[in-house]
Amino acid sequence: MFSKESLFNSRNLPGQSSLVILFVCFFCLFVLVFFSERVVPFLSRPTLPALLLPTGLHLFSSNAICRYLFEVSGQECSEFCNQWLEWEATDLQLCLNCLYIGLYDPFCDLLPSFLIFSLLSLLFHFPVSFTGEHKSVNGWFDRVASIHSCLSAAQKVLQGKGLQGMKSYMQRQPAPQSSQGRNTQPCNCNPIEEGERAFSEEELEAAILNWSKGLSTSPLATDRQHPILPQEGKRNILVTSALPYVNNVPHLGNIIGCVLSADVFSRYGRLRGWNLLFVCGTDEYGTATENKAREEGLTPQLICDKYHAVHSSIYKWFQIDFDFFGRTTTEKQTEIAQDIFWRLHKNGFLVEDTVEQLRCEQCQRFLADRFVEGICPHCKYPEARGDQCDKCGRLINAVELREPQCKVCRQTPVIRSSKHLFLDLPKLETQLEQWLEKSTSTGDWTTNAKQITRSWLRDGLKPRCITRDLLWGTPVPHPDFKEKVFYVWFDAPIGYLSITANYTDEWEKWWKNPHQVELYNFMAKDNVPFHSVVFPCSLLGAQDNYTLVSHLVATEYLNYEDTKFSKSRGVGVFGDMAKDTGIPADVWRFYLLYVRPEGQDSAFSWADMALKNNSELLNNLGNFINRAGMFVTKFFEGCVPVMELQQEDKKLLALVGWELQQYIQLMDKVKIRDALKHILNISRHGNQYIQVNEPWKNIKGGDTERQRAGTVTGVSVNIACLLSVMLMPYMPEVSQTIRNQLNAPQSCVSTMLQGNGTFVCSLCAGHRIGTVSPLFQKLEADQIEALKKRFGGQQVFDGDKVRALKAQNAEKAVITAEVAKLLDLKKQLALAEGKSPEPAPQKGKKKK
Ligand code: MF3
Ligand code: ZN
Repeated sequence: MFSKESLFNSRNLPGQSSLVILFVCFFCLFVLVFFSERVVPFLSRPTLPALLLPTGLHLFSSNAICRYLFEVSGQECSEFCNQWLEWEATDLQLCLNCLYIGLYDPFCDLLPSFLIFSLLSLLFHFPVSFTGEHKSVNGWFDRVASIHSCLSAAQKVLQGKGLQGMKSYMQRQPAPQSSQGRNTQPCNCNPIEEGERAFSEEELEAAILNWSKGLSTSPLATDRQHPILPQEGKRNILVTSALPYVNNVPHLGNIIGCVLSADVFSRYGRLRGWNLLFVCGTDEYGTATENKAREEGLTPQLICDKYHAVHSSIYKWFQIDFDFFGRTTTEKQTEIAQDIFWRLHKNGFLVEDTVEQLRCEQCQRFLADRFVEGICPHCKYPEARGDQCDKCGRLINAVELREPQCKVCRQTPVIRSSKHLFLDLPKLETQLEQWLEKSTSTGDWTTNAKQITRSWLRDGLKPRCITRDLLWGTPVPHPDFKEKVFYVWFDAPIGYLSITANYTDEWEKWWKNPHQVELYNFMAKDNVPFHSVVFPCSLLGAQDNYTLVSHLVATEYLNYEDTKFSKSRGVGVFGDMAKDTGIPADVWRFYLLYVRPEGQDSAFSWADMALKNNSELLNNLGNFINRAGMFVTKFFEGCVPVMELQQEDKKLLALVGWELQQYIQLMDKVKIRDALKHILNISRHGNQYIQVNEPWKNIKGGDTERQRAGTVTGVSVNIACLLSVMLMPYMPEVSQTIRNQLNAPQSCVSTMLQGNGTFVCSLCAGHRIGTVSPLFQKLEADQIEALKKRFGGQQVFDGDKVRALKAQNAEKAVITAEVAKLLDLKKQLALAEGKSPEPAPQKGKKKK
């Protein structure tokens, strides 16, 4: 990676072109300030900077605008310029935000921030001067100041309301993320240091003390016995993963966001000895299921049965260790949903209202927004959907469409009004806020979960319709609403309760027991408002002492090779295809967890997966464990040798112990991806240790040397054993294989039970290990190319330019290059604005 140090050292001081870029970025900020009265057509508020392209597209980030200007001017954007632009989008923006929101910490990333500050001062006519090692920056400033266009722009800014405008623009930008965890800190404070870590004598002594305690003090992990119920005096943890829609085959993005993340955490929790229950199931009701049934000529129930089995087998292949995997179309669901409904009704939290809807008389049903098409009332695009126009991007109310058509039979639907029931969210708002205040401050909510929730509350809550005119749903029990069913987003989260009820009759011990139970909800970020606002309101209003979420863990999005997963375009890897690749489930798990979109969007990439497999799994982790085992086998007849610890070994013990503690601290906070890096650190230290101590040479020497070879081998093989335990949540099969190869005692998995986890000697001198063999296989370039082709699908991007080129039968390479540029611009744009490249879900628009 490109570091700020290298950016600012005197050799790399920015050249003329990078100066210009930086300046354009600033200039755009200023331009925006001047024109802030102008509102881009499809927005309701001014958002700036905005550049209108000939295609009608608007660019909103100075960074993207820079890139665009490079393109049209025909100039190459050099690698170095790219680095500058990247720095602008990631670091500079963040630091400016910190600065203006008052979160600025003068001790973090001193230089870049100071530089920005100084640049601003320069613009605002304060003299600046750098001394010491950053002296050369002065020259940089002189050069900026001597560029005429820079100065005149600065002067323009300084006149009028420029400064104030810029400040208020900065304040409207998304808040920098909170300061938990190194990946979410503003200005990249405090990165984990690589290299030598110094330990005090006391720390070394403590490490040896732990080590020599061995396994004897470790309490044994007990086997799971169903049904798992909360127990007095234990940490009782209920884990849920968002219930996947039954009628879609989940793709890798779905898997990492929900079930896989929840699984890793659950496995970890069990290792820690928590009394933990992990439930999930398929989300089966709704229009989407009805339509799938129509498509496949089956009844909705049969569709659900069929796809529930598909989901089950995919998760089984991925080794998702649910305690129970249920479904929402059960009697318990009806019973519990109707009970909650009546309680809300009795407590006065339901209101009636009339809604206008489109109904197709031919198909005899009300049309969900996605099943009607017509002319966009705004831009006249002929194929607008009932919820949104793909051309102009505006949101549409289905009844506003001109010449609407039923998508199934192409008949013109009629407008019918009918009565519906609404959950009175405004009435529950105060209660909700009180609870949220407490839950978000005491629990581990991810930053995005808190932000999304806050933005929902900031705009004020509106009543939400909880009934639908459909057949496939939980029936509304109220006599006035006989023909209706519950809206899926009212119904589905109740699935968590009913699924638990199908697991045990004593389900209320989990779900009506907030004082004894901690609830973790895992999901992707588009699910947040339903779990943090709507569902908690249902439960609060029902007033039956329900267990509400304590820790809301939401991932960002996982992209596929810089585009989105898309079933219809055949792009991406879907759960059922992963096993056909020949790549083991554990390697899939590893890579998905390694790129888990934790704190920001990330991408699945074949090339990167191969790289990580070959470098981290094969060369680092696998190599270390295999070498350690092979030394025992080859040099010591398969028995762990006697160890006599020297200073260097003690340092390593302390270092490994430290990494273990980091791992535990991060895992406790559900920083799953970050914790994984500490496992890999340990094997890196291990490899280095072996490399330096060369047991293969020492074994051929005299007694002292042979003794040394023994110690190094013994310590290494114990580290391998520890690694197997730490890997258990991530790669359960590999973890077991390692322990089998080492013939490790069952009790070694108890290491994690003790307080903060300690590194103990669990394979003592004399222990006989099993047969050692390589754990991982290399992924070859041609194999990866083939897979990429197979799953790549056709890249489609509906920019005007691309369409025009296609029409001219332009060469494929040209089109691909344009697509890449557009995608890149789009990504930059989103990045610079602190958004995910995917459109944010529209509030209240989430429909099935
Ligand atoms: N099926 C929804 C989705 O995949 C998630 C439902 S979560 C629940 O987005 F809580 F509502 F069940
Ligand atoms: Zn119809």
